[in-house]
Amino acid sequence: MRILFVCLGNICRSPTAEAVVRALAALEAPELGLEVDSAGTAGYHVGEAPDPRMRAAAARRGYDLNTLRARIVEPRDFEQFDLILAMDRENLAVLHRRAPEQARERVRLFLEFAPHGEPEEVPDPYYGGPNGFEEVLDLVEAAARGLLRELRQRARAA
Ligand code: 4NP
Repeated sequence: MRILFVCLGNICRSPTAEAVVRALAALEAPELGLEVDSAGTAGYHVGEAPDPRMRAAAARRGYDLNTLRARIVEPRDFEQFDLILAMDRENLAVLHRRAPEQARERVRLFLEFAPHGEPEEVPDPYYGGPNGFEEVLDLVEAAARGLLRELRQRARAA
């Protein structure tokens, strides 16, 4: 099972989702053999490490983002990933436009997996204050737990 997380710049939200899901899956669901990656719909930051504010906030919760590097979504991603999870509706719409017909149903909003009552989108923290990075982590952790729960259920049912 391969999952790709997608935001705009691939330096805040999607690398956080990648690191959080990788860490939680290793602890709680190693049997799934999950492979995770992240990418952006825009190329402004290609090759860069995640935003230092995001890295610092993630590190305080035990997630290491330092070795990740931004890349842009590529056409072959639509063939190689089983789930392509967008952080917000704008990036979901971009992915839906770029996805070949047979891949469209694999492109979804990440927060579909969060408990009911959470918002539908992970807000872009780039131009906001420090609370935005904590909010990214709160939402990503909640959705990551929901995602792993659903994948474990699917695996048991299969
Ligand atoms: P991300 O955040 O999509 O969560 O990585 C952003 C990073 C950079 C920009 C916007 C959002 N930017 O405009 O450069």
